[in-house]
Amino acid sequence: ENSKTIKLQQDISLPPAKFIKINEVNKYRDQRVNVKGWVHHMRFQGKDLMLIVLRDGTANLQSILTDRLCHTYDALTLTLESTVSLFGTIKTVIEGKSAPGDHELIVDYWEVISKAPGDSEAVANKASVDSDPSIQYAQRHLLIRGDTESAVLKVRSYSLRAFRVHFHSIGYLEITPPSLEQKIIEGGSSIFSLPYYDAGACLSQSSQLYLESCVPALGNVYTINESFRAEKLITRRHLTEYTHLEVEAGFITFEDLLDMIENAVCGTIDFLLKDPVSRRLIEQLNPGFVTPTRPFMRMRYEDAIKWLNEHEVKRGDGNDFMYGDDIPESPERLMTDTINRPIFLTHFPGPIKSFYMPRSKDDPRVTDSVDLLVPNVGEIVGGSMRISNYEDMLSVFKTAKLNPDDLYWYLDLSKYGAFPHGGFGLGVERFLAWITNRYSVLDCCLYPRFPGNCKP
Ligand code: 4AD
Repeated sequence: ENSKTIKLQQDISLPPAKFIKINEVNKYRDQRVNVKGWVHHMRFQGKDLMLIVLRDGTANLQSILTDRLCHTYDALTLTLESTVSLFGTIKTVIEGKSAPGDHELIVDYWEVISKAPGDSEAVANKASVDSDPSIQYAQRHLLIRGDTESAVLKVRSYSLRAFRVHFHSIGYLEITPPSLEQKIIEGGSSIFSLPYYDAGACLSQSSQLYLESCVPALGNVYTINESFRAEKLITRRHLTEYTHLEVEAGFITFEDLLDMIENAVCGTIDFLLKDPVSRRLIEQLNPGFVTPTRPFMRMRYEDAIKWLNEHEVKRGDGNDFMYGDDIPESPERLMTDTINRPIFLTHFPGPIKSFYMPRSKDDPRVTDSVDLLVPNVGEIVGGSMRISNYEDMLSVFKTAKLNPDDLYWYLDLSKYGAFPHGGFGLGVERFLAWITNRYSVLDCCLYPRFPGNCKP
């Protein structure tokens, strides 16, 4: 029989096939089902047996096509990433053989829904050998179908759910503040400005001040919102748009704030490692990863400077680090990787931190501020207590050259019922780079935005 003349027909005497998703196959053992998806891998064994690994987004399923089923024109010309609909019976894989999920589909009928050109492997290969990130990430809409890339995006989804479960469980409300705003917060040079009717506006760098305004209205709050930073360089941990988990709580102390961060980070990881699906994904990407032990190590900024000098880590200009220096990305990561556990770096000097951070009672040179550093990434969280006294706020506005008329609403917070409060922001992509052991945050979001790149 010629492949062109073979026409497959469904055997109507077979039981009807229910359309299912591949992650449900456990429930359909020995039953006839229909699965639809994309050809992830395929190969012939001889001319009478063809294996297709079908991917439908939920999981992969090894499928066996025999005899006439693999003699058709469609079978002989099938390409990777083609869309197919397979009908057959779910069987547990016999011992000694392996297949994803330990099940396979013994196909009795199949159809092509859409045939892909035969170059999908070439696309993946080209992108993965190219070192220019713009070229590499230009193909990301196809690359995300890969085992690793899709696993990271799945862990991302589970993580967002886990953050929400955690904050819901401790009674914090989620808010959705605007991303278009009128005033700068975290430093002028990294702002995206845009026209906005008669005035200008900018993209939000942080929702913190809005969160602070919500506490007297809603109690403790959090948000998972996009933040925008006009970064100048492509690095392992900077995006121009990133997903920012931000939290704000009233009537807490600095110690409470540290506990709050520890609980959020560890609570989220516990949740991810308890769920069998996210646990398997994390195990695939970062074998042996466990929830870090509590309490996290605490280190004052001053002692970090000492640590760098004792370990002969030098500044960019070759000199020793001095009290008051910002600790850049690479020495910070070197220290964290050497210590090899999460570190709360606390009490940064006032001049290198944001205007709203209050001075510490025991040492007015420094602020009640904290960064959480983790191995392989460095800083994933920045947080602090906030100034809550009106006079103090007015005076730091002056030092920071902020116009009280612009931020009148923020000043009102320390006028109408000031209260001690604090909070933090966690970079979701940096958190993911840590728990999924990725080299760069660019691989921890769907379509990374970095200098010069806004595609796809
Ligand atoms: O330290 P940052 O700038 O702090 C704030 O924005 C505070 N207003 C947060 C708060 O207290 N509510 O940013 C917080 C975190 C960083 O620790 C880092 O994880 C992440 O946001 N982050 C970035 N992630 C990716 N790309 C960038 N360009 C980032 N800039 C900051």
